Parts: sequence; C-alpha cells; structure tokens
Amino acid sequence: MQRVQAVLDVDLPGARISRHLYGHFAEHLGRCVYGGFWVGEDSPVPNEGGIRLDVVEALRALDIPNLRWPGGCFADTYHWRDGIGPREQRPRMVNSHWGDVVEDNSFGTHEFMALCDLLGAAPYVSANVGSGTVREAAQWIEYLTRADDSPMARLRRANGRDQPWSVPFWGLGNEPWGCGGGMGAGAYAELARQFGTYSLDHGDNRLYRIAAGAADADYRWTEVLMQNLGRYLGDGEVTGHGKNTYQAISFHHYTIVGSTWENKGSATDFDIDEYYRTMLKARDVERIIAGHATVMDAYDPGKRVGLVLDEWGTWFDVEPGTNPGFLFQQNTMRDALVASVHFDAFHRHADRLVMANIAQTVNVLQAMLLTDGDALVLTPSYHVFAMNKGHHDAASLPLNVRGAAPARQVGEQELSTFSASASTKDGQVLISLTNLDAQRSTEVEIDVRGAVAGAPAGKLLTAEEVCAHNTASSTPVRVRDLDAVHLHGSTLRVTVPAHSFATVSFPAVG
Ligand code: AHR
Repeated sequence: MQRVQAVLDVDLPGARISRHLYGHFAEHLGRCVYGGFWVGEDSPVPNEGGIRLDVVEALRALDIPNLRWPGGCFADTYHWRDGIGPREQRPRMVNSHWGDVVEDNSFGTHEFMALCDLLGAAPYVSANVGSGTVREAAQWIEYLTRADDSPMARLRRANGRDQPWSVPFWGLGNEPWGCGGGMGAGAYAELARQFGTYSLDHGDNRLYRIAAGAADADYRWTEVLMQNLGRYLGDGEVTGHGKNTYQAISFHHYTIVGSTWENKGSATDFDIDEYYRTMLKARDVERIIAGHATVMDAYDPGKRVGLVLDEWGTWFDVEPGTNPGFLFQQNTMRDALVASVHFDAFHRHADRLVMANIAQTVNVLQAMLLTDGDALVLTPSYHVFAMNKGHHDAASLPLNVRGAAPARQVGEQELSTFSASASTKDGQVLISLTNLDAQRSTEVEIDVRGAVAGAPAGKLLTAEEVCAHNTASSTPVRVRDLDAVHLHGSTLRVTVPAHSFATVSFPAVG
C-alpha cells in the first residue's frame, strides 16, 4: 500500500478547462471513417444516412466537443471537390499514406457535417496546404459557411444543402515538416500566413485558424510560428504582417515505446517493464506542453494564442494479421491510464492549452470504440473520457501533494506513480485520481479547504490485469462504483487500487 496526502483548495479556482481538450480526430485511415463512422445507407448496420448509429450514440454519451477531419496526413492529399455531389459520380483517389488503398470519396463534406450534427460536435476541418492551393482552401470555406448566392454557396445548394454550416475550427495543413510537405519552419510559417490570410470569415462564422505545429518537443518550430504571427501589444492589438492569420499553434505527441519504429511493441502483450516505460513517455507530455507554453509566453504573455495538441495517444504495432497501413490496435487498461495522466496534465495547463484531439476515435490507434461487423466495443480509454466529463468547461483547482509523491525508478528516470487533478463547476467538485503502480493500491487522504464538502461519490475503472482489454465477447474493463471513499470532517479518504483510475465528486458550499 502506498500513501498520499494532498491538499485541495476549492476557493482558489484557476483557468477554465476547455471542453475542447476532450476533442477527437477522424482520418480517412484504415477503418476509422469507413466501417467505423460510415457504413453507407444500404448497410444492415443501423444507420442514419449511412452513419452508424451505435457509434453516434456511444460518442454522444461522451459529449464530444469537436471532431477533426479529414486528416492527419490524408488532409494534405485531399481535394474537397472530389467529395461532393452524387456519390456514384465522385472521382476516386489513392490513399497513398494509409494502405495505398483506393478511396471512393463516398464520405465527403456533407457526410462529415451530418456526422457532426448527429454528434453535437463542432467541426474542425483541416485544409490541404501540402498539395492543395490557397484558392481551393478559400473556396471550401465559402462552400461551407457562406449564406448568399456566391458561387460556392450556390454549388452547395445544388448539392442539397441550403443553409451554411458553422465551422469554428480551421486547420492550416498537418505536420508540414513531414507528410504535409516536408517543409522547414520558416517556409511553412510563410505558407500558413498566406493560407490564413485567405481563410475568410463569411457572415457571422468566425474561424479559429490553427497553424500546424511541431513534432513533440520541437520548440524551435513553435518559436518560428510565434515570430511570424506578429507581436501582441498590451491593448489587445497585434502588430506585424501575421495579423489575424492564425489564432493557435498545434503540436503532436504520441506515446510510443519500443526499440524501433518497426517494433513499437504489442498493444496487449507487454511486460511490467514496458508498462512503466509507457507511463514515463505518457507523463512526459506535461514537460512538452510546458516547453511550448514557455516559448509562447515570451511572445504572447497575455495568452491570446492558443496551444492545440491535435494528435495524441498511444501508438503500438498493429494487431497481427491486420493491414499495417490501417493502424488498428487493441486498447487495454494501460491505454486508459495513458489517457488519464494526459488529462491531468491538460487540466494543469488549461491557461494555454485550449484544445486536444485523441488519435483516433474509432478503430485506429488509441480508439474510443472498436467495431467488429455490427458489434461495438467500448475501450478502456472510452471510459476515462466518460468519467472525466465533469471537467468540461470547469474551473481547474489546485490539488497539491504534501511531501514526496510515490515514485519508482524506471531505467535512469523516476516515474511518479500517482497523478491527480481537480476542478469545480456548478457547485460540484470533481477529482481524478490515477494510481500507476502495477501492484500496490494507494490510499489517498485529501484535506479539502475553502469550502464545506458534502457526501462524496466515487467511480472506479480497473481490471485484474493491466493488459486487460474489451472485445465483442468479453468486457473485463468496466466502470463500477467506488466504495472506498469516505469523508471525515474536511478530510476525504480514497483507496485507489493498483493500475486504476478513479473519480470522486462531491458538492461544495463555499
Ligand atoms: O494519426 C495517424 C498519423 O499520425 C496522422 O495522419 C499524422 O498526422 C501523424 O503522423
């Protein structure tokens, strides 16, 4: 048994935790779009206009705030005009990044917007900067968001949609240093300014333009993008030629262990050493967020430019026998804990980090959902998103551990095996607690200050084994009520079993 003593200050609310930190990502990759979201109108799988209804229902239960589409690497090969009009007449293309398969474009702009409507999620559309033109991107925005009889609005009407859609989030390409064009930071920054300049606000649609950012800890990339944006002045004005061209900068960080790219390790078959190394990598996200934030602070102390982590999650070897280009992997209790420690880091940096998108929602990488024919599997990661829903748009709260937190040595590095964060909204406090220790439970004692706490309720996500995972025929990883939560005066006592994630909520009167 490990012990942790912590202090929670309910009367010291910090930054708002944007619900967009719980965003998602759907790329034309493997079975994410096709088979995952989209089955087509003639499918025996229950669907609305071709969109799988079981997937919609499961994701609605998460209140997913936004969905990024169509990529990823695919975005910089995608030409949106191929994905509108009668499906049988849409041109085909080769999905060169993902399996070299032929894409028939049956899922395009109208289908994506219908999906977002069904989900109640805000669309985050990534424009093709790598192989597309500024005109093409500008016309896509006009097609999506313009109300009058402009040429693109007319084209949209001819394709059956009268009213413009609302598109709040607009991505300026993806990984321009790699699959998105193989550019240097300076060349991309110029291009981002150019694309951003012609990414217009039509009517009352306001685009939040997100420049494609760094891989992991490439802080220089962020610095170049900040330099090119211009400098914010105290009165809220921005100087320089980057004015209004992009409002946020993204970066990507995957949890990848394993010795080489060809050997990233199995998603389900791993030993304890590999488990702890995965956790080290996952916890590293906090250092990287802080690194980008520090660079941005130097140029934008008022924190007007957002930092967006629009791809994150685990990346293991594909499941044996599946297409290597489809990135299909199972999802275990280990993945759930990777997610929960990411969210704690996100909550602590909510003053700068405004959005994050897990890669990817269905059947690809660290998925929420796996489909198997007409069966649907909720992964352990799904449950972390569900249990943390109360943090959406809540005020973060300081939760500090007294003394040394439990830790263990992993190779040369020390891994802190306890992680927690808290927030408050509508008179309720929500605490998230992760015990990364594979064998020992952790007894947590929290001194609740600044408010009178009411009766607590807890939920627990755990399994016998850290490699436990759910399938269509068995669900060993499930959420249950956590009985081991007690309030004595202002002291909350919670026991979190080994390799588990728990949440505790209680009303608080100030
Ligand atoms: O999510 C899979 C791929 O990972 C994306 O297409 C790309 O942006 C990243 O390298």
